[in-house]
Amino acid sequence: MIAVALTSLIAFLLYLLTEWRGRKRQEGEPPLIKGWIPYIGKALEFGRDAHKFLTSYKEKYGDIFTVRIAGKYMTFIMDPVLYPNVIKHGRQLDFHEFSDQVAPVTFGYPPIRSAKFPGMDEEIQKSYRLLQGENLSSLTENMMGNLQLLFRQDYLGEEGEWRTGDMYRFCNQVMFEATFMTMYGKPTHSTRHAGMAALREKFEKFDAMFPLLIAQIPISLLGATKAIRDDLIHFFLPEKMSAWCGSSRFIQRRTEVFEQYDLLGDLDKAAHHFAILWASVGNTVPATFWATYYLATHPDALAAVRGELDRVLQLEGWESGPPPNITLTLEQLDSLLYLGSAISESLRLSSASMNIRVAQEDFTLRLERGRSITVRKGDVIALYPQSVHMDPDIFQDPEVYKFDRFVEDGREKTDFYKHGQKLKYYRMPFGSGSTKCPGRYFAVNEMKQFLSLLLLYFDVEVLEGQKKVALDSSRAGLGVLLPASEVRFRYRPRQP
Ligand code: HEM
Repeated sequence: MIAVALTSLIAFLLYLLTEWRGRKRQEGEPPLIKGWIPYIGKALEFGRDAHKFLTSYKEKYGDIFTVRIAGKYMTFIMDPVLYPNVIKHGRQLDFHEFSDQVAPVTFGYPPIRSAKFPGMDEEIQKSYRLLQGENLSSLTENMMGNLQLLFRQDYLGEEGEWRTGDMYRFCNQVMFEATFMTMYGKPTHSTRHAGMAALREKFEKFDAMFPLLIAQIPISLLGATKAIRDDLIHFFLPEKMSAWCGSSRFIQRRTEVFEQYDLLGDLDKAAHHFAILWASVGNTVPATFWATYYLATHPDALAAVRGELDRVLQLEGWESGPPPNITLTLEQLDSLLYLGSAISESLRLSSASMNIRVAQEDFTLRLERGRSITVRKGDVIALYPQSVHMDPDIFQDPEVYKFDRFVEDGREKTDFYKHGQKLKYYRMPFGSGSTKCPGRYFAVNEMKQFLSLLLLYFDVEVLEGQKKVALDSSRAGLGVLLPASEVRFRYRPRQP
């Protein structure tokens, strides 16, 4: 009994000593919030509701403060007027250090920036260009073909009866498979891959553990997650992929790059391809759901977006009923202003990705009007765009969905203000600066295509008597949030 009491006392004294000798705020540094739990600091509160947490600390400590979160000291810059000072700060603030540490452990491949794989990091970065520019049209064209194939084969019945379903599941089934086929191609002798439903279900299970993996919880502690990840990786083994045809230039180039490294095993190569599957559907599926949900629950928005789409197709000679083969060129997709705004608005309401940079040395971060803060080597500088997206000074009634918020005088609205200053960064679902999502143009196009086909092929209605769907904040900081519950809806072939 005495031994237990003594041990507890010593442990308590050690804790006090560590905390007393631990980090203290120094001259020039922002206010420091450590929390009372050693190492963990404020991680639990942050994890519960990051947006609420940061808003309340902003009220208390101002626009810049440092918080201890799971052993890291993170300095949050809350005022978007200051964002350009962080985003442009190249030399002392590294963009890739954090993802280089976390991604290999999460997806199961060896670290990229290593003497074993000279030049691979640069080649991988270069491959991202193949998601944009002239490759965007072939990606977009293939996606349209794949979406039409799936809608026709799985959903577009002959008879005009209403069919009911779960909206997230519907968006997930279509976008997951269509994106997969667009990225990785199809089996040589078939129009669709076998085992897609099982792959998607495993992916969902892995995705549910994603926040814990990013938090560096060892995969061995996460039950069946390791076995599930192994199955997902095996789907992309080189001998399987070599039997597929029509993959994107992006995936072809990455396959060529991996071939150049003898020390990269088949499973490692497969794990890299699996990571791209996560990047290409992990956010796009929930983003597509929110865009669909908001349109389906706002008839005025749905009518405006559909009217705009009909007008674009009428210019091509279309009159009514689903045309047999719908093509929408990149220019036509770009011209869908209200659809683009509706997608931006649903991303504003649902995206919660954190932008992270790691300080490479002790330095002074110069902000505006002579203001500056001192930053320590190894500290993280974080931007949390959800706070901007939900700022009532920038977006009037930020909780309200306004499908045309980003349209003004017949063009895209780009002027948003804070303290009377025009903002450079006001809408950031895709990150910022040099790590900005390389798939962003493709992502917006595929969402536009999905919604265009949905509105051309179907009438869609949310079933009555359901609560407004809330955001599930377990992925806060990591991308587009999932809905906290399913939505029952019904659809039928579009009536004239
Ligand atoms: C709505 C859909 C999407 C959202 C919201 C989204 C968002 C993001 C964000 C926030 C980042 C991190 C940026 C940063 O660190 O600052 C990112 C990175 C990335 N995204 Fe996306 N993304 C989407 C769709 C896609 C698609 C469709 C693809 C590919 C086909 C893709 C490929 C990537 C890749 C490869 C990276 C890593 C880039 C790097 O390491 O430098 N994303 N995305």
